[in-house]
Amino acid sequence: MADSRDTLRQKRQESKLGGGEKRIESQHGKGKLTARERIDLLLDENTFCEIGAFVTHRSSDFGMERQKILGDGVVTGYGKVNGRLVYVFSQDFTVFGGSLSETHAEKICKIMDMAMENGAPLIGLNDSGGARIQEGVVSLGGYADIFYRNVMASGVVPQISAIMGPCAGGAVYSPALTDFILMVEHTSYMFVTGPNVVKTVTNEDVSSEDLGGASVHSQKSGVAHFATANEVECIQNIRKMLSYMPQNCEETPLQLEYHAQNEIREGLKSIVPDNPNQPYDMHEIIENTVDLDSFLEVHKNYAENIIVGFARLAGRSIGVVANQPAHLAGVLDVHSSQKGARFVRFCDAFNIPLLVFEDVPGFLPGTDQEWNAIITNGAKLLYAFSEATVPRITVITRKAYGGAYDVMNSKHIGADMNFAWPSAQIAVMGAKGAAEIIFKKEIDTAPNTNAALKEKEQEYGDIFANPYRAAERGFVDEVIFPEETREKLIRAFDMLKKKVRNLPRKKHGNIPL
Ligand code: HXC
Repeated sequence: MADSRDTLRQKRQESKLGGGEKRIESQHGKGKLTARERIDLLLDENTFCEIGAFVTHRSSDFGMERQKILGDGVVTGYGKVNGRLVYVFSQDFTVFGGSLSETHAEKICKIMDMAMENGAPLIGLNDSGGARIQEGVVSLGGYADIFYRNVMASGVVPQISAIMGPCAGGAVYSPALTDFILMVEHTSYMFVTGPNVVKTVTNEDVSSEDLGGASVHSQKSGVAHFATANEVECIQNIRKMLSYMPQNCEETPLQLEYHAQNEIREGLKSIVPDNPNQPYDMHEIIENTVDLDSFLEVHKNYAENIIVGFARLAGRSIGVVANQPAHLAGVLDVHSSQKGARFVRFCDAFNIPLLVFEDVPGFLPGTDQEWNAIITNGAKLLYAFSEATVPRITVITRKAYGGAYDVMNSKHIGADMNFAWPSAQIAVMGAKGAAEIIFKKEIDTAPNTNAALKEKEQEYGDIFANPYRAAERGFVDEVIFPEETREKLIRAFDMLKKKVRNLPRKKHGNIPL
């Protein structure tokens, strides 16, 4: 009896050591934590239950039968984050470089299936040299098994991927299929083909960091939603994000306890400048409206002309989408439309109500935008809002011009409530541009063209540079003072909390991808 207990103890010990002390030291030497240290940081203390600690690979080529390591390069299981169940896999770079074998993939698939069946988020901590080279096609099959499950789980349970080391080749497609990607500055990278292949094919010299590091993907490509300074910050971000999400698509997010108080926010009075062409920072409006310190911005450094992120309003989770007049005047362009659309779809899939702050001069003109399909990409945002059945509220702070007025969660595409501030201007375009077009002849033939333009601009502005024409039609439900915004939103979201809206019966729609 003593022997069999010793065997178990010994095996547990062996499995915990992964690729051994030397490789653990080397991992630490690179400024990286081990797979188990990462899990410890992610989960509430003493909640991790491991599954498959004694799994080994089945390969016998290249002498692999003599190199079996318990766990086979990935630690999998379940535990709690802030008291709520999550499933986690954490690749162990100390075992064959965290490479993915047939059995490594099976372990991941097993917890993915459990996450879906039991309705809890799936967190992947990626640190891997890719397909286990010694195994060939069974490893590729293993990847495809994971990809398939990522797609099946999409919209069923939240899926979050942290990239904490290499992630290259086809391996990038599992994180890409999940809802959010977080990367760690300087120790993680993602690319489909690495610097050597790039050099051979395009003759470009580029480092791994410059090709697919955290900065590149969080600023240029938008592949990563967060670039974090280190692994601890990365994992803390995951814990925070989860707090805004429900466990699965059948549930609503947690409602934190909230005691009603004076909700008037005087700070909102003076943010929008009198001059309609003067920029201001929309973050100030968001921060002044939502619960204190509750705004968690997503995709912060990518397509900054739109702001997206999670927040709380009177303890209730919401998704915020806002034009940013401080960046490119808040125009909609290819990237901001994609960014907004993806976030809206996540919130809708997981029953997170949407709050939109609107100050948008229109779509960005130019060949670059047209040739990069602003038509198709702008349509993504329009489609995403139109399709969303969660409670949706818009606050127009200033400009709501042209097609962008329709797209930014207008009543016409299903917003439940639309508020406007007295500074709102809801029109086909700005007064000057409008006057130049519709009064062209009168202006051109006037003795003083400048004075004529000013006069016509004033005339157009008097009629449309306000929220009242839209309010007359009911396109705006209420014109409110800025300081009343928080109070109005709390009441409106509360009124909408049991909203039911069903989409027409269909297999699935065809969002313009
Ligand atoms: C088996 C691997 C491995 C792999 C690394 N190792 N990658 N073993 N299969 N894919 C092993 C190494 O042999 C080494 O073993 C240990 O992991 C650590 O690797 P090092 O090279 O010493 O580490 P480092 O210098 O940090 O370099 C990391 C690396 C490099 C950049 C990831 O190892 C590398 O380039 N690996 C190969 C990457 C690759 O080409 N993968 C296949 C991509 S194709 P020892 O015993 O010495 O510690 C792919 C297709 C997926 O993934 C398709 C899905 C559809």
